[in-house]
Order: sequence, then structure tokens, then C-alpha cells
Amino acid sequence: MNFKWRSPSNIALVKYWGKHGNQLPNNSSISFTLSQAYSETSVSQENKTDDGKIEIDFYFEGVKNENFQKRIEFFLTAIIPHFSFLTSSRLKIESSNSFPHSTGIASSASAMSALALGLCSIEKQLTGQLQDDESFFRKASIISRLGSGSACRSVYPHLAMWGENKGVALSSNEYAIPFLEADQVFKTFHDSILIVSSDEKTVSSTAGHELMHTNIFADVRYQQANQNTIKIIDAMKNGDLATFGQIAEEEALTLHALMMTSNPSYVLLQPNSLKLIELIRTYRNDTKLPVYFTIDAGPNIHLLYPHEFETQIQAFIKSDLSNFCEKGKVIEDKVGHGATLIV
Ligand code: DP6
Repeated sequence: MNFKWRSPSNIALVKYWGKHGNQLPNNSSISFTLSQAYSETSVSQENKTDDGKIEIDFYFEGVKNENFQKRIEFFLTAIIPHFSFLTSSRLKIESSNSFPHSTGIASSASAMSALALGLCSIEKQLTGQLQDDESFFRKASIISRLGSGSACRSVYPHLAMWGENKGVALSSNEYAIPFLEADQVFKTFHDSILIVSSDEKTVSSTAGHELMHTNIFADVRYQQANQNTIKIIDAMKNGDLATFGQIAEEEALTLHALMMTSNPSYVLLQPNSLKLIELIRTYRNDTKLPVYFTIDAGPNIHLLYPHEFETQIQAFIKSDLSNFCEKGKVIEDKVGHGATLIV
């Protein structure tokens, strides 16, 4: 039995930063599902006698990778209670990314969600469960979350929301839900990723989440994020680009402010990140075009704008912004249709 899924990366608009228990978020978050940055993962299953152990062979970009294999074994061992077939199966897992390893794009969301989807396909085939899409993708989202929190949002098209929020019906800490009511303009949004540095991060997201436990701004931050989730959902329902952009930028800068106010504190932004922010804001003031930024846990700037302004914004990137990127590098992405089963 063999299933291959393609699953994309996502970029958060309201940020997940701080967690508790078994990968449960301390606030709600919402993200754009991307399309060009994705992982493709095939999972082949053969029966073996159940000895209570995980047995896998892991290949990354066609090459056996012991380091990744250990991490996947650890993850699969943790999710044995979720899949009865795991300890009676030999799995061959082959994964690759559409983007090079060192581009500064996080691969955990796409990689973990692609693997989770493959495991759910095997369960569906073997047990006859997960027949309807809703239960299939819900379980895939739960399993993705256990691998990497933000990965749970990658399985849905366009936009996905994760984390219990009193203002959002059916929201949950355990899985993401699709946000379907956004105005059409947001379903074709562009994300041009301005690569300031492709170096490996100096502080991992997992370590960053941990530091929220002692951050003195933590409680007020969680409130802010929950409020921003409601506000940005309303803005997106109404096609309100200005409010959308104001919240996206506030969230990006708050994320980095939290890093700067952690103990120990750290800074992931670089001089060119700040230069780009300044140029984007000046350009927006001058042209009145709806172009905004968000930032992940790194120095790179994600430029967000509606499809209809592609020509103008591309010209601006070329003439001004790319000068502040590492070797002029910009990765073009846009909102996508979510994960797809390839075979
Ligand atoms: C800044 O999902 O990578 O991208 O759950 O420890 O794997 P783990 O963390 P991860 O954190 C992502 C943080 C973020 C914001 C976001 O995607 O919401």
C-alpha cells in the first residue's frame, strides 16, 4: 500500500507563540495556506508481526537520512495510540521539498502535514474509517499538530484557524478548522518572500515557545492574539484590506517583540529586515496600494498583497526591495488550495 501526498507550508497572520500540554496552543492563530512551498511525502506500508515497535526506512530527497529517521521514529512512537497499524507495519517514507533546505523557509509544517496525511490514508484503507473528508482532514490536522503545532493549519485550502476562541464557532486547540468565509480577494493573495538570510535560525521555534512561560507579557499577549483573530476574520469577511494589513503587521512585530523581551532575550531581525519594513511602509504611504508585511520566526519579510496589484508590486520588488535581499533572492508564493493526494 502506498500513498503520496503533497502538502504546503503556511504563513501565520495571527501568530501561535506559546504552548502547553501536548502541543496545545496558548492562543488562537490563523494562516494563509501557501502553494509553491510544499513537501511531497510517500508512505508505503507492509504488514509485519506486531512486536510493539516502530519500523521505518526514511529517505529525504532520495537519500537515506539517519538523522531525520530518528526524529520520525520518535514522532511515530508518540502517536502509536492514534494508529493501531503502526506497530504491525513496516513503513517506507520518502520525502522531498519543493524548496531547497536552506532558503529560510520553514519545512516542518509542510513535512509533518504531508506525513500525517499519508498515515491517515493508510488508516482509511486498512480500517475503513475516516471515509468522509471532514473526519479525514480533522484527524490529519490533529496528527500534524502533534508533529509541529503550526502544521495542523496546512491541510486546508486558503485559510485555516487553530486554537479555541470563544468568538469562533467550532474552534479547537486540538485541530485547525478551515476558514471559508473570507472575501475572494484573500483567496488569491500573493506572498513574495524577501530572503534577508537563508542561514539556519539561531533559536528554534520550539525554544521560543518555551521562553513564553517566563515572559512577563505572556498573558496580555494571548489576549491580544485572541482578539486579533476575531478582528482579522471580520476584516477578511468584509474585504477590509486596511484592517487586515494593520493586524498582520502588528502580529509580526509583536512576535519579534516577544523574542526581544524573553529571558534570555534574542533578536532574529536583521538590519535589512528593518530596512525592508521601512521601504514597504513608505511605498504604501506614497502609492496607497494595499501592500503589507508579515514575518515568521526569522529575518525574512513576507510581502502580502492582492493579485490585482502584481505588476506594480513586482516592479517595486525589483527596483527597491531586492537590493536588501541575500543575493537579491525573492521566493514567489501565493495562497493555495491545500493538500492534495498524488497517488
Ligand atoms: C512563528 O509550529 O514551528 O511560525 O509546535 O514547536 O513545532 P512547534 O512550533 P512551530 O511554531 C511556529 C511559530 C510561528 C507562528 C505560527 O506559525 O503560527
